Amino acid sequence: MIEIRGLVKSYGPGQAIKALKGIDLKIAAGEFVVVLGPSGAGKSTMLRCINRLTEPTAGEVVIDGVSFAASGRRDLRALRRNAAMIFQHHNLVKRLSVLKNVLVGRMAGLSPLLTAMHVFPESDVQIAMHCLEQVNLAHKAAARADALSGGEQQRVGIARALAQQPKIMLADEPVASLDPKTSRVVLTYLKRICKESSIAVLCNLHQIDYALEFGERIVGLSGGEIVYDGPPQGVTQAVIRQIYPGLDDPNILGAGQRLADRLDIGAGGALAVAGGVS
Ligand SMILES: Nc1ncnc2c1ncn2[C@@H]1O[C@H](COP(=O)(O)OP(=O)(O)O)[C@@H](O)[C@H]1O
Ligand SMILES: [Mg+2]
Repeated sequence: MIEIRGLVKSYGPGQAIKALKGIDLKIAAGEFVVVLGPSGAGKSTMLRCINRLTEPTAGEVVIDGVSFAASGRRDLRALRRNAAMIFQHHNLVKRLSVLKNVLVGRMAGLSPLLTAMHVFPESDVQIAMHCLEQVNLAHKAAARADALSGGEQQRVGIARALAQQPKIMLADEPVASLDPKTSRVVLTYLKRICKESSIAVLCNLHQIDYALEFGERIVGLSGGEIVYDGPPQGVTQAVIRQIYPGLDDPNILGAGQRLADRLDIGAGGALAVAGGVS
């Protein structure tokens, strides 16, 4: 169980920019949660504050009863080992092999370049190979990372996060730079791994259609606050308008291009989206 309690992040002089206004969330092991929200809602800040790539202004993260509120160095290591990050641009070391990139996941908290020089224990190699099998890329283990397609590289990013054997995976717009078919493949692997390995996943997306298709729970973030937390079936037009304020503002969307017009309530009460939202 992962608990986020009272997470606050303010930026700028006088802490005037309130990026997160007090986030409370409980996520169970094996739960696939999609965070949906417009650009600037605070999605990245929330994930970065959870594993402290960004130092929160206030709040704590509790993982299986262990609180990470203080910012001691050892604390930070343990936190980052338990909370693996998956980035939009996967952040692989291009010139290294796929296997070595995944082995980096076994050395959380150390410099990828330094760890790449190490001889890894056989047990770590076995774990890394197993993680590559889970994203169906074991046959590419020896290939250079930059010889893979974008979708394959993101699957390596998932394998690297998995190799950490974390309690939670934090994925920040993992498919934002991929085409629709590849995006669905990557999200399918991510969700399958969440279930098979009982790892909680918090996945930021800005595409409503993917969120509704893959999320088993949707957290709607707007203006640094949670405005919706529930099943995808509960994401009605009214909820979408709350998550995306100004949806019908012609100054934002251009006259005659009302985004809300593209949103339909489907048979099950959930929204269907024509063309997605980006
Ligand atoms: N390093 C920073 N310095 C100042 N403001 C920031 C910084 N990072 C993010 N912000 C602000 O915090 C808010 C949330 O940003 P972000 O978390 O990136 O949103 P999202 O990922 O949902 O697009 C925005 O208003 C953004 O401008
Ligand atoms: Mg972001």
